[in-house]
Amino acid sequence: MSSQLSNYTLLGADKTKEMLKLFKGIRTGWVQVGEKKWFFPYRYTEEAEEFYNFKPRPSDTWIISYPRSGTTVMQELIWLLSNNLDFETARKKKLAERFPFLERSMINDPAVIAEFVKRNEGNLEKRAVCESLPRPAYEVLEGLSSPRFIKTHFSLSLGPRILDSGSKIIYIARNPKDVVVSWYKMNKFTVTHGYIGDFPTFWNLFKNDLTHWSPYWEHVKEAWAQRNQPNFLFIFYEELSADLLFVCKKVANFLGKNYSENQLTELLNHLNIEKFRKNPMVNLNDLYECGIFLSSMVFIGKGKTGNWKEFFSADMEKEADEWIAQNLKDTDLVFPTTNTKGNCQ
Ligand code: A3P
Repeated sequence: MSSQLSNYTLLGADKTKEMLKLFKGIRTGWVQVGEKKWFFPYRYTEEAEEFYNFKPRPSDTWIISYPRSGTTVMQELIWLLSNNLDFETARKKKLAERFPFLERSMINDPAVIAEFVKRNEGNLEKRAVCESLPRPAYEVLEGLSSPRFIKTHFSLSLGPRILDSGSKIIYIARNPKDVVVSWYKMNKFTVTHGYIGDFPTFWNLFKNDLTHWSPYWEHVKEAWAQRNQPNFLFIFYEELSADLLFVCKKVANFLGKNYSENQLTELLNHLNIEKFRKNPMVNLNDLYECGIFLSSMVFIGKGKTGNWKEFFSADMEKEADEWIAQNLKDTDLVFPTTNTKGNCQ
């Protein structure tokens, strides 16, 4: 086992007590892993070795991101570009099955999910959905034939050893102000997280690296450092939201695929957020149906850059700007920053 994995500490007792009052879907507390203090629910420790030892294949394609950075739209885009724009399959097979989430079981505590199984007892289909959530995706993935498509929110240094595996890796990053707003909503409306605090409190937790998969900056910077590797593509959500066609072409080129303008127009139409939001294969309808997502949860939201302005007070904005400047100081990482696109500074 990697020394990093065994080097974890339980979040301090006082902080745990405080946070358990805020996250009603978390029962067993949190851990901080390795020197960078990657932040996870305690369940991580029970599966850490399996995650770390998961065997990537050269034919795999990975999407890696900090949550709420545009992962889902990139998954669909990558899968379609890699599969001859097979819209027919994309329209009938769930994205979560075509492109499994490696550590999904980590955020679905069996004890919590058992309550949902009970709640959905009378409906076999919904019950089966709930029962599937704590099952390890790494076992499912091991049984899949190549080429596989895999989603993870693990940082490069903590997840499976993919950098030298020959797998193709696409990383998507989004400015932290929009990430934290989108992440706040998801934590609030996903009952298995069950966040009941306000946005300023959530912002403080995020800034202090106390939300799942944090620290945000280490996550992004580790990927940024790899951006020139031949098997690595770094994309900003802000690029995608400003010019989806450009990003489609960039990803197609990275994957070694060539499509006509007409085909790409069809792809753009399929990925258009208004249409995407209504697409039951990508928007996790079954989680709404079982009550894991509250109806107020918007898994695919407005998808706007700059949405953070509705949530940050002037003081919080100042604080965030200082925090961003501080964290960008020693790097050449620059988020896209025009007034309408990717303005995070
Ligand atoms: P908002 O909550 O700001 O609207 P992830 O897939 O990593 O969870 O990221 C979710 C964010 O991506 C959400 O942002 C969501 O609206 C946005 N998104 C999802 N599909 C999109 C699409 N087709 N085009 C643009 N943005 C999209």
